[in-house]
Amino acid sequence: MKYQLAPFFCRPWLLNGLSQRLIESHYENNYGGALRRLNAITEKLEALDYASAPAYIVNGLKRDELVALNSTLLHELYFASLGGDGKPTAMLAAALARDFGSLDRWRDEFVAMATGLAGGSGWVLLTHLPRDNRLINQYAADHSQAIAGGIPILALDMYEHAFHIDFGANAKAYIEAFMRNVDWKAVQARYEDACQVAPPRPLVQEEFADVPAVSVEEVKAMVDAGKRVQIIDTRPRFYVSRTQDIMDGAQWRDPERVQQWAGELSKTDPVVTFCAYGFHVGCQTATALRDAGFDATYMKGGHSAWKAIGGPIKTYL
Ligand SMILES: [Fe+2]
Repeated sequence: MKYQLAPFFCRPWLLNGLSQRLIESHYENNYGGALRRLNAITEKLEALDYASAPAYIVNGLKRDELVALNSTLLHELYFASLGGDGKPTAMLAAALARDFGSLDRWRDEFVAMATGLAGGSGWVLLTHLPRDNRLINQYAADHSQAIAGGIPILALDMYEHAFHIDFGANAKAYIEAFMRNVDWKAVQARYEDACQVAPPRPLVQEEFADVPAVSVEEVKAMVDAGKRVQIIDTRPRFYVSRTQDIMDGAQWRDPERVQQWAGELSKTDPVVTFCAYGFHVGCQTATALRDAGFDATYMKGGHSAWKAIGGPIKTYL
């Protein structure tokens, strides 16, 4: 299969302070070069007999394929990032302010990252992360580092070939020229598309879909705020007898004997239950307590999730 070339995404003659000669050379030699390399590598891979090919040949080609493919994709995004007036749209300005504290703060970080690459090479990318519905600046060296599941919407090429024809070693002037030419309307269109991408699907417990749940972060916030909450560790007896640690602030109760200890709880303060990993036992206990009239929820991810966020633990006595 051959990868197809993408025509220019911007009009080189309209750029302000970036010469047509520079953009042409970049497109023809570096973008085109990456695509040609990618197709040559793909051809080699398609001809390989994987049963007999040495591992260093397979892995070497796959590594080169990754570099060439990402270089191709990022160059396309780079050219698509240019051609505007450098003024962020209201939507992007609001999204950047939300995720970075302020538009200036985003810009300062993005520019500082680019400046930091001036003596070397690499990419600075503004990337949307569907998992957390947020934007993040990332750097990428050797074309091949990308946030898994991230969708880059703005790319700044900091390889020397991107600026030396116009700016020599003056990377600062190149960065300023790039920022002046960003096509924020196009960035916004990509951002809108990226926001349509669903986050990774969580594991769904259909049988407990109706039981209210809280995250470990929410429980920690309640504890830190001093909120009155009854936290019950309901890991099975055999489990606690061998692990011997417990969430600080939780009380262990035997999930086999809910009816016996439920009467000790207050009906006015909320109850949070959990088991080892947040599956059946914690959910069943929360259900039993809700049926008995308590304001009970289960903690997603259970004891392990609490430890995974660094929640305080004490030795179980
Ligand atoms: Fe480049």
